[in-house]
Amino acid sequence: MRKNIVAANWKMNLDRVQAISLVDEIISNISIKPSTQVILAPSYLYLYKVSKKCNDIENIFVAAQNCSSEDNGAFTGEVSVNMIKSCNADYVIIGHSERRDKFNESNNELEIKVKKALDTGLKVIFCCGESLEQRNQEVHFKWIENQISESLFTLSKKQIRNVVIAYEPIWAIGTGVTATAKQAQEMHFFIREILLARYDKDISDNISILYGGSCNPTNARELFSQQDIDGGLVGGASLSADNFLAITNSF
Ligand code: 13P
Repeated sequence: MRKNIVAANWKMNLDRVQAISLVDEIISNISIKPSTQVILAPSYLYLYKVSKKCNDIENIFVAAQNCSSEDNGAFTGEVSVNMIKSCNADYVIIGHSERRDKFNESNNELEIKVKKALDTGLKVIFCCGESLEQRNQEVHFKWIENQISESLFTLSKKQIRNVVIAYEPIWAIGTGVTATAKQAQEMHFFIREILLARYDKDISDNISILYGGSCNPTNARELFSQQDIDGGLVGGASLSADNFLAITNSF
């Protein structure tokens, strides 16, 4: 059975004191069902501290928000998968639309990042999503298929099992406009179909596919009740412990 997952993407928010106080509030109030995993993705700067705090709590994990496609060397300001792993992180988010759009990350570069992360023993939350223009032009299914096939489909069956996919339509991120449960379910079903075509039923049935984009305590339950939606990747609403905890309890 695939896991339900709620992941908090804090993006470039919270100073050190605020981040630690948020993690403290979350871990002192959380009660996680055995079938659910909670993942916190703070800034790199607080990864180690947050992972130490979450260490003893079952089913709570820590993710970096990005990683370098290089191993080490003269890449000022970059952070390697080994550095992330050495901070006790479990996951890394790769291919967020903000990285693709603002930092020009291509499907090919993301493929390199995914492989490096998996080789280091990190799990991957791989993001995909279309723009409003692409949806209006009805090319969104093809776009998502390209993003996934170009970055993930050279992975072996063993490797792909350590990938979680997050479908985040760009038009729903930070806008307050959520995809309807029907729109999200339709895309998640499509993603499962392309996984089935490339791999096999066991893999397509067992990969968790998360929805992201203005997910909040009011819409989470309806989204998560869809057959192919296994949880959420949450931005804005994850910056409040109350809102985030309500979303983790929405299964
Ligand atoms: P919001 O929940 O703020 O729309 O952000 C979603 C997101 O980008 C998570 O990665």
